[in-house]
Amino acid sequence: MDISDELEMSRRGILVGSAALATLTTVPQAVASPAMPQPAPTMMKVALQVNGKQRELELDTRTTLLDALREHLQLTGTKKGCDHGQCGACTVLVDGVRINSCLTLAVMHVGDKVTTIEGLGTPGDLHPMQAAFIKHDGYQCGYCTPGQICSAVAVLDEIRSGIPSHASASLTERPKVSNAEMRERMSGNICRCGAYSNILEAMADVAEARA
Ligand code: FES
Ligand code: FES
Repeated sequence: MDISDELEMSRRGILVGSAALATLTTVPQAVASPAMPQPAPTMMKVALQVNGKQRELELDTRTTLLDALREHLQLTGTKKGCDHGQCGACTVLVDGVRINSCLTLAVMHVGDKVTTIEGLGTPGDLHPMQAAFIKHDGYQCGYCTPGQICSAVAVLDEIRSGIPSHASASLTERPKVSNAEMRERMSGNICRCGAYSNILEAMADVAEARA
């Protein structure tokens, strides 16, 4: 047997050994976690006010507001990015306040007024923030855009109402619409395309028009 035969044999030995080890480590896991019977879902009638319309749904109580909007009401303008409260793509307005709809259950919003991007404006009658995003090219792929727009609308309302942020110089004085304020307040809305500077321009435009 020459040296190349010996090397080939030891290589095969390692491969066979690894395969055997993989079998030993995976089989017990499958045995350890047999399929558990799932409890039947608890269903509940939920009345939501979405974009000015009363909507009645029969939902599994574990349904998030995001899934209720997208899967049950076919309002797919609201996007699912991370589904973990980290990207802001699912931002909607509830009674005028922005929330991550992936982090809240639909049953918690009975009677609340929910506004999604579809309810903010229409193609023939855009909300000023929607028009400003188009004017300033505040998007590229557009996936984060519905959440960005809902958030931007709420941010200007927050600043106008005098709610301070981490970037505010004072907790008691009304904050100004500045880049620092807008950047801080929009920091929960991630844009993979990096349209941030154009989004800020759009927001500044709307704020100036309102002043
Ligand atoms: Fe809700 Fe990302 S999908 S925060
Ligand atoms: Fe593409 Fe924001 S426009 S992720």
